[in-house]
Formats: sequence, C-alpha cells, structure tokens
Amino acid sequence: MKEITGETKLFGILADPIHHVKTPQRMNEYFARAGYDGVLVPFHARSDNLAPVLNGLKRLENLGGIIVTVPHKTAILALCDDASDLTRKIGAANVVRREPDGRLTAHMLDGEGFVRGLRSCGHEVKGKTAYMVGAGGAANAIAFALLRYGVSCLTIANRTVAKAEDLKSRVLDLYPQACINIGTSDPSGHDIVINATSLGLKEGDALPLDASKLRTGQVVCEVIMQPVETAMLQAARERGCAVHYGAPMLACQIELMAEFLGVTAAG
Ligand code: ATR
Repeated sequence: MKEITGETKLFGILADPIHHVKTPQRMNEYFARAGYDGVLVPFHARSDNLAPVLNGLKRLENLGGIIVTVPHKTAILALCDDASDLTRKIGAANVVRREPDGRLTAHMLDGEGFVRGLRSCGHEVKGKTAYMVGAGGAANAIAFALLRYGVSCLTIANRTVAKAEDLKSRVLDLYPQACINIGTSDPSGHDIVINATSLGLKEGDALPLDASKLRTGQVVCEVIMQPVETAMLQAARERGCAVHYGAPMLACQIELMAEFLGVTAAG
C-alpha cells in the first residue's frame, strides 16, 4: 500500500452508484507504475448535490482532477469553466482537470477509449456498419469517435428518440457526408452492435435491444464494466456473436486520462 503524505496529489471519481467503479484500482496502479505521488479515491455524489460537491472540490488546492461517470457526464460539463470544442460538441465530459488557479477544464475520452479498446481486441471499425443504443454522455462520445475512425454507417437507437435525433444532427455538423440513421430496437444487419446506455448495470434491467435478432458475425459491445457479462452479452454469446466487454474501454483511457491530468512519470 502506497504511503499517503501531505504532498500526495488528490484525485477522485464522481459516480452514483459508486460500488462498481474500477477506476480507483486502475488509476492507483498506474500512479504506482509511474512512480507518481497521487491517490484516486471514490467520491459518491447524487445528481442533486453535484454542483455543491464540485464547488467544494475545486477549492481544494491539492486536487489534481476528477474522473466522472454515470450519471454525471452530461451535467458536469456545464459546471466546468473550460472545455475543448469537440467536448462541447459531444456535450459531456468524463475527466476534469483542476488548473493551478482553481478553474476546471473538462474533457471527454470515452469515444477514443472505446474505439481504441475495440481495436486492441482485434475489431477494426473502418468501413464497418455500427448500431448503437443510447444517446447519453458515453453514446455521444462514441458516436463522434466511430465517425472519426471511419465507420461507413451509424444507426442510433434511443428510448428518447429526440435525443438520438439531436445527436445525429450534431454529428452531421462535424461530418456532413456521414451516413447516420435513427434505429429501432432491431440491430439486424450491422457489423458492430453497441450498448452505450446504463441498462444492464442493475440486476433485473431490461435488455437494451432485441437480442433475438443478433446473428453470428456481429461483434456485440458493452460499455458497462460491472457486471462483467451483462444479460445482453450473455445473450449475444449464446447466439454465436463475438462479444466485447466493457473493461478495455477504461483500460485504454487510463493513460489518456493520466496524460490529460498532468500525471508525469518520476525520474
Ligand atoms: P452516460 O453519461 O453514462 O451515457 P446518461 O447521459 O445518463 O449516462 O445516459 C444514459 C443513457 O441510457 C441514455 O441513452 C438513456 O436513455 P434516455 O436518453 O431515453 O434517457 C439510457 N437509459 C437509461 N435508463 C434507461 C431505461 N430504463 N431504458 C432505456 N434507456 C435507458
């Protein structure tokens, strides 16, 4: 166990629920490997307390930054002082850096992390068709990244159809030639199928899509890390699909997050 001293830089992950998060283990391992004097701890905050919690945290002079996950990724952006143009287009953030003057800079790495994770497991996205359920923070980031990495066509399905339409129009602003459709619960005919909703996080959750339509040859992907195998992934595996778990998305983001947070290797 690392010794925490008065000089240790403090980081946190904001979430609700919090028990399932894997970031503390992953990031503290990264700090140890890098010989960096930092510690990341879980910050459990409800949505109705997000603003006062962040307001307090930003006043901590030894705070390095905060990682943000469900359900705060969209709300956090409006509470930060700065963000890149792409992060603003995505409309959500999953990492926040505290600048020396106390200002907060937000950034979104879910999309980059998801596509890098997929490719690291041997699934190329360029030229493939993708079907994604969700239009929240993670889904927005993934949609922009899929287009950046060259998917040939993206279908977006979401419970609240207006949010899928809104995401489609913002992606088209940046990629006017892109092929983007609004979908139903039927993932048929797509090479890559993605659950980018929080459905599956809780026991007894409904499936995010019609799993009876899944076929061999499709790669079925999850953004949820815990449980490791959601009901959707289990159904996909039973139907002969390749399955892609949620963990690589975080693994591929840890280094990117550390870089953004200014974590530098010792020596
Ligand atoms: P995150 O930042 O992790 O993406 P979010 O922005 O709260 O979280 O988005 C959650 C996503 O899960 C949304 O696409 C949401 O659908 P709506 O836009 O219709 O709210 C989806 N979602 C959450 N609970 C759901 C449920 N019970 N049924 C269907 N979709 C659900």
